[in-house]
Amino acid sequence: ATETHQQPEVNIGLVGHVDHGKTTLVQALSGSWTDQHSEEMKRGISIRLGYADATFRKCPGVDEPEAFTVEETCPDGSESDVLRTVSFVDAPGHETLMATMLSGAALMDGAVLVVSATEEVPQAQTEEHLMALDIIGVENIVIAQNKIDLVDREQAVRNHEQIQEFVAGTVAEDAPIVPVSAQQEVNMDLLIDAIEREVPTPDREASDAARMFVARSFDINRPGTTWEDLKGGVVGGSLVDGTLEADEEIELRPGREVEEGGQTEWRPITTEVRSLQAGSQSVDVATPGGLLGVGTGLDPSLTKGDALAGQVAGEPGTLPPTHEAFEMDVELLDRVVGEDGDEIEEISTGEPLMLTVGTATTVGAVTSARSGECEVSLKRPVCAEPGSKIAINRRVGARWRLIGIGTLK
Ligand code: GTP
Repeated sequence: ATETHQQPEVNIGLVGHVDHGKTTLVQALSGSWTDQHSEEMKRGISIRLGYADATFRKCPGVDEPEAFTVEETCPDGSESDVLRTVSFVDAPGHETLMATMLSGAALMDGAVLVVSATEEVPQAQTEEHLMALDIIGVENIVIAQNKIDLVDREQAVRNHEQIQEFVAGTVAEDAPIVPVSAQQEVNMDLLIDAIEREVPTPDREASDAARMFVARSFDINRPGTTWEDLKGGVVGGSLVDGTLEADEEIELRPGREVEEGGQTEWRPITTEVRSLQAGSQSVDVATPGGLLGVGTGLDPSLTKGDALAGQVAGEPGTLPPTHEAFEMDVELLDRVVGEDGDEIEEISTGEPLMLTVGTATTVGAVTSARSGECEVSLKRPVCAEPGSKIAINRRVGARWRLIGIGTLK
């Protein structure tokens, strides 16, 4: 008997320094590769949140942790039982892409922090990503100590100690550290066991109003498609509350910029759900958890090239307000994360900040700054609830650096 495919029910971020093995690990657990996009392949880094689903299983009658597997067939030939399907969000490791990492963090119910055993701890993005998890409040963390096939026992132990020292006092303080080789598929059972324990599926109310964070949007039509065959625009992201059904009406906020009589204004977009893709399956009803593709009735030119990334979707009339400017409480970090570790100066009026709210990233100019709070005027508006967490980045030299966390008033 073949089981029906399960929708993923939990989103797990894969974070860690570039080349420490995130993609290889997802591949070992899911059989698919998150670098799905040719542009990403060419550049060799995951420039957008990639994702892949993995179904964790257990072999009946086998002791734990050896019983945990991703294979459908157990070593004795019997069929494994499905535990649950998880969705891995593969955050990019490139240093300038912290904002993308933070927008991904808004979608993460937990995370696997991949740390290579072959290098000193912490490497720059290991530290930055852990800081981001800390800030966004992703508490359910498993540390995969990867590439153990490349080190001897002594180095593995020393690296383990360095990891412990590094996470002390952070959100990952009590996270289990599981030694693995993603490439050789060593200790995948231990890793699945740890994820099952540490990253539970969150309780969600399917009866609540649907709320989807859009992380990507695209046009799936090939060039030259005639209008009869043209498919509507697709938005991708995660449903964090409620359910979505085919044929239902949805609203997207902030929507789109409309120009009228020399004035520009952001107007919500309303459209219908034409199809739903959860993981690799078409479904009639999408439930919270996992990453979701929604085929809509929108003109694909509206969704092309991530044009709607950062927006919020849901039942018309139920979404939070759109802000063109807002006030936030600010908590600055002690110092800039990274090698230099400079002290962070207070935010000043007039300075530009890059702000990540949910999956939206926007540049804002500070219109008023006091100690512990500030007001910003946004280049691109955001749709967000009071109390939302905001990652605050300041330009330092050639790049944006994370300097603190805001809370929307
Ligand atoms: P970005 O997506 O660029 O951030 O990198 P990543 O963290 O996804 O790393 P990736 O999975 O691409 O792995 C980087 C390199 O390390 C590749 O050449 C992998 O084959 C290799 N690698 C990953 N895991 C292991 C491992 O456990 N052992 C060994 N020997 N090599 C590994």
